[in-house]
Amino acid sequence: MRLALVTGTSSGIGDALAHELLRRGWSVIGVSRRPSAIRTDRYTHLRVDLQDPAAMIGRIETSIGARLSDPGVGRLALVNNAAHIALLGPAPQIDPAELLKVYAVNIAAPVSLMGLFLRRGRPQCPLRIVNLSSGAATRPLPGMAAYCTSKAALRMAGMVLAAELEDDGPAGRQHADATILSYEPGIVDTEMQAAARSAPANVMPMVKMFKQFAAEGRLVPPATPAAEIADYLEGDRHPKFSEWRHGGPQARRT
Ligand SMILES: NC(=O)c1ccc[n+]([C@@H]2O[C@H](COP(=O)([O-])OP(=O)(O)OC[C@H]3O[C@@H](n4cnc5c(N)ncnc54)[C@H](OP(=O)(O)O)[C@@H]3O)[C@@H](O)[C@H]2O)c1
Repeated sequence: MRLALVTGTSSGIGDALAHELLRRGWSVIGVSRRPSAIRTDRYTHLRVDLQDPAAMIGRIETSIGARLSDPGVGRLALVNNAAHIALLGPAPQIDPAELLKVYAVNIAAPVSLMGLFLRRGRPQCPLRIVNLSSGAATRPLPGMAAYCTSKAALRMAGMVLAAELEDDGPAGRQHADATILSYEPGIVDTEMQAAARSAPANVMPMVKMFKQFAAEGRLVPPATPAAEIADYLEGDRHPKFSEWRHGGPQARRT
């Protein structure tokens, strides 16, 4: 049995990925605040708020910790897909309490989940981790400090974990076949893009760019990145850390 936990399965890329993995025969545990419309024996939905990582990790470990260690699981996957879109505006407008929520969902929760999978996954079981990244992880976008910095931190968290997983690293001695992908899905037709297009220009100076993406027909359906993520999860011989960007001539894979 192949088992994946995907965060953010109530919409967008997470929902498409859950469908794609189920179609390929995986068992899937989905996490989000809203319910999922998916109804099949191989799908379990946990309604959890990632804004409280300590409560979240306790709840998830209690609910599915034993499944992560199950000897019947031949491949384990974690996809940190959920994100707080974080339209907090330029620096003078940023509310510190909201900023903490962004960092909780976009960094603390994914890092805690990576730790849970390393603690509870069987050492001999192949483990694939995908962290959803963004051009915003490496490109400064005015009005998006919270989102940009959280995605940059998540990208780095994957790199650090990969370094720990090197053969002579603390986790590598246990999890010989664990690899991490930082994946930029491109411009995807989801609720997140719709929110970015409809934000006021004083909060989101880049709103014109997001409207232009839609006007030029550049949005791809969520099924497209979902298939690429699923391919990675099923693949072998990946480097400990890889970085992929979806589609286009500028796409890079390392
Ligand atoms: N769409 C794009 O163009 C694009 C581009 C670059 C990167 N990305 C990345 O791709 C990923 C997926 O985004 P998407 O476009 O598919 O967005 P989306 O349709 O808005 O989905 C976001 C998901 O995250 C979940 N989520 C948000 N806050 C949560 C919380 N506090 N607790 C639990 N779940 C929470 C939402 O579920 P609930 O609301 O039900 O909790 C939802 O299922 C994100 O990491 C995003 O940064 C997207």
